[in-house]
Amino acid sequence: MKFIIGVSGGIAIYKVVDLVRKFKKRGDEVRVVMTESATRFVTAELFREISLEPVMINVFDNEEVASHIKWAKWCDAMIIAPATANVIGKLTAGIADDALTTVAIAMTKPLIIAPAMNEAMYRSAAVTSNLVTLKNRGVKIIQPSTGELACGGEGVGRLPEPEEIVKHVDDILNVQKTLQGCKIIVTAGGTREAIDPVRYIGNRSSGKMGHAIAKVAAERGAEVILVTTSSLETPPSVKVVPVESAAEMRQVVLSEYNTASAVIMAAAVADYRVAEPSKQKIKKSDDTLTLELVKNPDILLELGQNKRQQILIGFAAETQLVVENAISKLKKKNLDMIVANDVTAAGAGFGVDTNIVTLITSNGATEFPIMSKIEVANIILDNLKNFLNK
Ligand code: CTP
Repeated sequence: MKFIIGVSGGIAIYKVVDLVRKFKKRGDEVRVVMTESATRFVTAELFREISLEPVMINVFDNEEVASHIKWAKWCDAMIIAPATANVIGKLTAGIADDALTTVAIAMTKPLIIAPAMNEAMYRSAAVTSNLVTLKNRGVKIIQPSTGELACGGEGVGRLPEPEEIVKHVDDILNVQKTLQGCKIIVTAGGTREAIDPVRYIGNRSSGKMGHAIAKVAAERGAEVILVTTSSLETPPSVKVVPVESAAEMRQVVLSEYNTASAVIMAAAVADYRVAEPSKQKIKKSDDTLTLELVKNPDILLELGQNKRQQILIGFAAETQLVVENAISKLKKKNLDMIVANDVTAAGAGFGVDTNIVTLITSNGATEFPIMSKIEVANIILDNLKNFLNK
């Protein structure tokens, strides 16, 4: 997932350094926005080094136009930790006079705050009432823990430990590691079959569907190997193996297959390749040019023939008789599920961010309305989880 961590100035900042590390370590992307007072405790450089992303302190220092809006759009959630009495007050009043509060006010995704301060401040009428207001507006609050306080004495107001914050955030965002311990191979994009060193035979697949599946599977805790022809962005926890041709894709998939829990073949694999690709660039000569094509191996068919523990999920990109054609592929390739779509329908198929799919198993077909490829990925992985539990 992508998080913005808003850091305000409190002694508990040292825990936030570890919090950023914990998110990064499990593959989340993190950007930090700091208040001026936070920079008195920790330098921006430290957060930059561990997040490997830019750190924002002042909206005007950033060369990007409207960077606060872009950051708010970029993330899946914002976490303010520690949230001081001052920041809580500003959020309640809608004051946006620095980078942190400006990004927070532009947030349309979940906003999570972890208040941390002296007990008397935390229990003050102002902070209590502000927290109630924020909660009623939908802001999620991670309660401070009780214990030794920096100002001396015991009491409530401590920032919870980083692993507790991670757990609260996952619970709030309902991120469940339902695929922990599973190794999932995902293929994506259209294969490219060389004609000569310059040209290839390709297809319109962008790789967006396969990359969405890889992202969601990684978020659910799976070990993901993404065998792809596409250069779309992927979360750092996904192992990406770039390939070009069907032959290369086959080789990588087979080399990982024995220990895999599941294979999801979202790639559009070319059925034919050029029999003898030219070693040199083909020069223009006659009015016509004939290429001889030979059949490519059917990767999924081969996986189906050698299936043991693996759950196999295929895709069927069709232009007619969608469900009938998909059912015959499900049977022929020995699959557990096939995801069928009519690539000629508006909002489905190649290059777009949405898809319209029918999921087919031996129990029948379920049609879904138009939805984002991320939502389709969620549904496919819910089904995969059920297969793995059987
Ligand atoms: N597939 C594969 N290897 C191939 C061709 C397809 O692994 N050489 C996989 C695709 O990744 C997809 C499924 O098989 O998950 C169905 O692909 P599709 O192209 O729809 O079916 P084909 O079997 O190639 O049949 P046709 O092209 O005739 O519709």
